[in-house]
Amino acid sequence: MAGYSRQSINQESEFLENAWYVAAQSHELSGQLASYRILGDDILLYRDSNDLPVALEDACPHRKLPLSMGTLIDDVVHCGYHGLQFDGSGKCVGAPTQCKIPSNAWVRSYPVVERYRLIWIWMGDPELADAADILPVADYDDPDWGLTDGGVLECSCHYLYLLDNLLDPSHVAWVHQSSFASAGTVDVPLELQETAQGVLVSRWIKDIDPPPYYADMLPFSGKVDRLQYYEAVAPSIAVNMSTYTRAGLGGNDVELPADTYRMRSYHLITPVDENTTRYHWFQHYNCNTDDEVIREQLNEGARGAFEEDRLVLEAVHRGMGDKRSPNLDLQLDIGSRLFRRKLSAMIKAEKALP
Ligand code: FES
Ligand SMILES: [Fe+2]
Repeated sequence: MAGYSRQSINQESEFLENAWYVAAQSHELSGQLASYRILGDDILLYRDSNDLPVALEDACPHRKLPLSMGTLIDDVVHCGYHGLQFDGSGKCVGAPTQCKIPSNAWVRSYPVVERYRLIWIWMGDPELADAADILPVADYDDPDWGLTDGGVLECSCHYLYLLDNLLDPSHVAWVHQSSFASAGTVDVPLELQETAQGVLVSRWIKDIDPPPYYADMLPFSGKVDRLQYYEAVAPSIAVNMSTYTRAGLGGNDVELPADTYRMRSYHLITPVDENTTRYHWFQHYNCNTDDEVIREQLNEGARGAFEEDRLVLEAVHRGMGDKRSPNLDLQLDIGSRLFRRKLSAMIKAEKALP
């Protein structure tokens, strides 16, 4: 029936399939059929009558018409061509043109979980899907922390260029001059750490003026110590933590003061295919959390900055895809090089599974 078959997916893809990816924002899903392309596969998403998200292969097994072109009636998807009917598990429950339901009429279903205002989908072997493996968002239920609405950007670039960028604290000095740039973002040495599922690049920058994006947000004025913390978790999530103290109070081996400002930016990167990426993001922060103006300011400031990234990374994708001469790596690429090596080993190991 709706079992998982490795033959049913593209064996040549460079994607890790046994992983949770963000398919959509919660508010996008309804009782209407909608199609999303994820890791090169077309996925049908909708909510059933219990408001639970459902994900099916978006292709009827008869002539591969996208099921998203059909209709949803009482939790059953009716194909828009000859009426084959499928329930939320992918089982065929009706075949109006046949005297009985063909035994090979089924569509693949995908595990889905709704968490953190997002719909997460498992693209690999359903037997391996465990909701406990979804990235934990620390303090998510703590009412003392604020959440931005976040957003989504469609980027015409390979997803690993986004991951490279999210492991590169130096680009802010050029790409985000009016928001995240500050003294030290060019030349303070980076620390690299390998984590269980990825890579962390970080550095404390001491005794500087805060960058424009944060200047109005901090609970203190004057010079600051700033931590840039860029972590990537395989296959394609990045968490950037921005930490600010008054100058002289920050550092790796000290206890940070109570008025330390913390902003955690979650970047949830979903490959659409080799040339396109859907980029979901939101932020979580510990100061001025009841202030709607600040919440909006944070959200729109981030959106503007990520648009700056998008423009650069789309051009990088084009440039790297059409090289007329060799490219080189710089010292600032230490994080992305290690991350790409790790992820590539994970993908190879997954492909080697029986
Ligand atoms: S294409 Fe769906 S029933 Fe024919
Ligand atoms: Fe950026």
